[in-house]
Amino acid sequence: MAEVHEHYQASSATYSEQYDESKILTSEEYPANFFRLKRIKERVQALGLTSIYELGIGDGSPLAAMAELGLKVGGSDLTEGMLDVARAQLVAKGFDPSVITWGDIQDRSTLEEGIASGPYDGVMALGVLPHVRDEGAVIDNMSAFIQSGGTLFLQFRNSMLSLYSFNRLTMEFIEDDLLKGQPDEVKEIVRTNLEPRLAMDKPPLRTGTKGAPGYDEILAKFHNPFELKELVENKGFTDVRFHWYNYHVTPPMLAKDLGPTFRTAGIAMEPTTDWRGMFLCSAGVIEATKV
Ligand SMILES: C[S@@+](CC[C@H](N)C(=O)[O-])C[C@H]1O[C@@H](n2cnc3c(N)ncnc32)[C@H](O)[C@@H]1O
Repeated sequence: MAEVHEHYQASSATYSEQYDESKILTSEEYPANFFRLKRIKERVQALGLTSIYELGIGDGSPLAAMAELGLKVGGSDLTEGMLDVARAQLVAKGFDPSVITWGDIQDRSTLEEGIASGPYDGVMALGVLPHVRDEGAVIDNMSAFIQSGGTLFLQFRNSMLSLYSFNRLTMEFIEDDLLKGQPDEVKEIVRTNLEPRLAMDKPPLRTGTKGAPGYDEILAKFHNPFELKELVENKGFTDVRFHWYNYHVTPPMLAKDLGPTFRTAGIAMEPTTDWRGMFLCSAGVIEATKV
């Protein structure tokens, strides 16, 4: 499996396009990050946070947005190319680039400088959890940036969408998660009967270009929201709530058949806050308060 930073190094120069509001309807990919950031900005303002630290800052767009809201910010990332773009973005927007450093969310020893610059009112990691091996250690490391009463924002890829995708991921979810621990004969009869009804050739694997690995060639896990909630609570957080985003109004494989409506109908659902997000969204953000 390729290294995570190799994938992000290759996308660092163009990553900011994902936050370009003028391209919401025309960008190649669905503007999921734009809507994620919009929701987090709303929550940060509603909670009255005055400072926030971000792990895995990417091109710096979320961090710059927080600085523009008037928050004190700090951040780190694993990928040098992303840090260069993020520093340039902070400078261009009139903010101090020295608040960001190299750091690995999985390695506490690389985060001490950032932790010492706090405590912060909030801590966030968006688009990072899919790439980590030890989720518990990551939540502990994030927790070190805030005090009791502080807020955690933790993004994850939602495994529940697989119940609406009717493809290879559905079969994997049923076999590995729903039927975990069941005898082989149970799994066998379910697999034999369901596989012909599912699009087992989908989703297509996202492979790399120009020598860099694609998203599906690096560690890029899904998480179960129920399990993640439990883990966050076990790590000393309470008042857990979910913010769902990246709505799929049809199963993803029908997006092309539906055409532009897939995107416009999805965008229209982004402000939704009811239970459907758990099944229609490819991602979510956990918000929780440190006890
Ligand atoms: C999907 S991007 C998201 C960037 C940014 N948080 C945003 O929301 O736009 C993921 C970022 O996490 C970084 N990353 C991946 N694994 C990491 C790790 N172990 N420690 C710190 N950063 C990491 C990548 O380099 C990349 O910049």
